[in-house]
Amino acid sequence: MKLAVLTSGGDSAGMNAVVRAVVKTGILKYDLFPSAPITSHPRHRPPTGDAKHGLAEKVFAPPHKEVKVQDATFVHNMRFGDGELLKDGTGDHPTGRSLRGRYIVRVGWDDVRGWFSQGGTLIGTARSAAFRTVEGRLSAAYNLIKEGIDALVVCGGDGSLSGADVFREEWPKLVENLLSQGRITEEQAKTHSHLKIVGLVGSIDNDMSMTDLTIGAPTALQRICEAIDNIDSTAYSHSRAFVIEVMGRHCGWLALMAGVSGGADFILLPEAPPEADPWEDEMCKMIQSHRDIGKRKTIVIVAEGAHDRNLKPINAEYVKEVLTNRLGLDTRVTTLGHTQRGGKPVAYDRILPTLQGVEAVNALLESTPETPSYMIGIRENKITRVPLMEAVKMTHAVAEAVSNQDFEKAMSLRDPEFRE
Ligand code: F6P
Repeated sequence: MKLAVLTSGGDSAGMNAVVRAVVKTGILKYDLFPSAPITSHPRHRPPTGDAKHGLAEKVFAPPHKEVKVQDATFVHNMRFGDGELLKDGTGDHPTGRSLRGRYIVRVGWDDVRGWFSQGGTLIGTARSAAFRTVEGRLSAAYNLIKEGIDALVVCGGDGSLSGADVFREEWPKLVENLLSQGRITEEQAKTHSHLKIVGLVGSIDNDMSMTDLTIGAPTALQRICEAIDNIDSTAYSHSRAFVIEVMGRHCGWLALMAGVSGGADFILLPEAPPEADPWEDEMCKMIQSHRDIGKRKTIVIVAEGAHDRNLKPINAEYVKEVLTNRLGLDTRVTTLGHTQRGGKPVAYDRILPTLQGVEAVNALLESTPETPSYMIGIRENKITRVPLMEAVKMTHAVAEAVSNQDFEKAMSLRDPEFRE
């Protein structure tokens, strides 16, 4: 098996820990010849005192024992998917942490040292339009086959994992196509008749079904809490109201949890819009009652994708207008934007991706053409494997329920316990 790991879609804290865990587990799992000589890679200095140093070298030895890191970007491979450009984009790990200009990069043990504490994704990411086309996926397949890669760990959100799922399903056709175009040999087509894929959910939104938590969501929530704490003191000082817009285009988890942990007065979510019609009455009544019992500040959290029950978008500026005009509150708007997505991962966004990265490699090693592609999740504090296709389908069903204004169904699909 030749393994590649990539990050895709919006970055999230903890993606580097995924890459680190996959690379290190890959190396450890392939440590079949502990006494093999340290030889092959000139740039790799074995760290003294590190019992693992031999492993990092051995990974560069027989080709079937390589671990590869692919720069996230299916984009690069798609766009520049012909042989010439790929040649430029392929190589050993360049000095330091920079993977600039390289699209498929071989890495060893030390190349990912300390990655778990870094924010964003060091190997890069993108939202790829090209991968949505068959031509794009054909180039991706070609690049993988050319590199001899037959197993992929994809860390990304809902869109990236849906793309990965389509890719695997389409794989035999892509191989057939490449063979008929003469871009790969019969031998390559035979060896690559099956692509193993496993998905890890990297998303600050916590918007994937069939898992309790996505990688990056705890860090984003922590960032929001810190921001609310900062706003809280100034709001209190001036007896002001603040409308805080948080990310979450389709999912209100961040808004809801931030509201609970930051003591918000009112929260607006896409999946559960206020029931009253007009909803403004409900909000104003609630906030006024808090003021009446002596509360000196008001915090309203608005998810980016919030709307009313008729799907009319609710934005922070409008909420400000309502609070100003109807309750006479001195109101300010703060949009937290990408400050929520960046920065150092909190401890849980190091632990979760590490445990899941290890499980991802195990799942690939156990994968056969008959087993489905798995998504690695977490349920009730246990790392789980669920069919990727099912998780993607269920996630799309939530969006569909929202667009059909069936909010009860949306919530019950998002959180099965809500049903009980
Ligand atoms: O998908 C995660 C997310 O953070 C959403 O909450 C947000 O709407 C979106 O990414 C922003 O994406 P971009 O960084 O591409 O503007």
